[in-house]
Amino acid sequence: MQDRASNLEEEAILAGDLPRHIAIIMDGNGRWAQQRGLDRTLGHRQGVKALKPIVKEAARIGIEVLTVYAFSTENWRRPSHEVEVLMGLLVEFLASETAELKDEGVRIRTIGDIARLPLPAQQSLLWAQTETAAQTRMILNLALNYGARDEILRAVNRWRTENQDEALSEEQLSSYLDTAGLPDPDLLIRSSGEFRISNFLLWQLAYAEIYISNILWPDFDAVELRRAIRAYQARHRRFGGLG
Ligand code: FPP
Repeated sequence: MQDRASNLEEEAILAGDLPRHIAIIMDGNGRWAQQRGLDRTLGHRQGVKALKPIVKEAARIGIEVLTVYAFSTENWRRPSHEVEVLMGLLVEFLASETAELKDEGVRIRTIGDIARLPLPAQQSLLWAQTETAAQTRMILNLALNYGARDEILRAVNRWRTENQDEALSEEQLSSYLDTAGLPDPDLLIRSSGEFRISNFLLWQLAYAEIYISNILWPDFDAVELRRAIRAYQARHRRFGGLG
């Protein structure tokens, strides 16, 4: 019975319009740990474990780009120990998962000001991106030291240097953002029941559908990802028109 239900769900998802690009704010690691009397960093460790099945499921369903908010420009304000653990988890994640992600056809790329990350994190990212550069099934886009305001300012300032203060068009600004070449997200998922954008992809989310999940990120699984996609498929997107 369960199998039949999941087959029907699978058919329904594949028959509907799939979001090309899903962006996720992976929130709730700290609360997950605190609820269990554990250190917040153990929530992050569990959060990294939760990420892999989501990446695999998104690739399997046929999503083209999955962008995950792993570390924001504001996250540097957290205690230095927590920041160090997060950076260490990134290096561990890349070392342990890149080969399998490559086998799954996943190309790893980043958005954010990577040059300000600790050197080991930068080196791991460079290695993982080079390793997976030829993969075409799905892009896993890691937002690291990412803030949308910072991204927009970097883009505008680069534009000014390269174009002698000429006026910018929407297309030109898009092509100077870290997401250049990627479609805008169709669906934004935020876990842990918070209704905020938190300086994530402010330009690119202009017409995204938003799905708030009450599940804390470490418990977020493929079932919840499919629920979010089904909710997206039930929406009527009008892009500001009357549709
Ligand atoms: C928000 O939870 C989560 C973060 C600030 C970091 C998200 C990072 C991961 C899921 C793992 C890192 C990913 C990689 C690829 C290494 P929170 O700590 O704000 O939770 P809270 O709101 O419950 O305190």
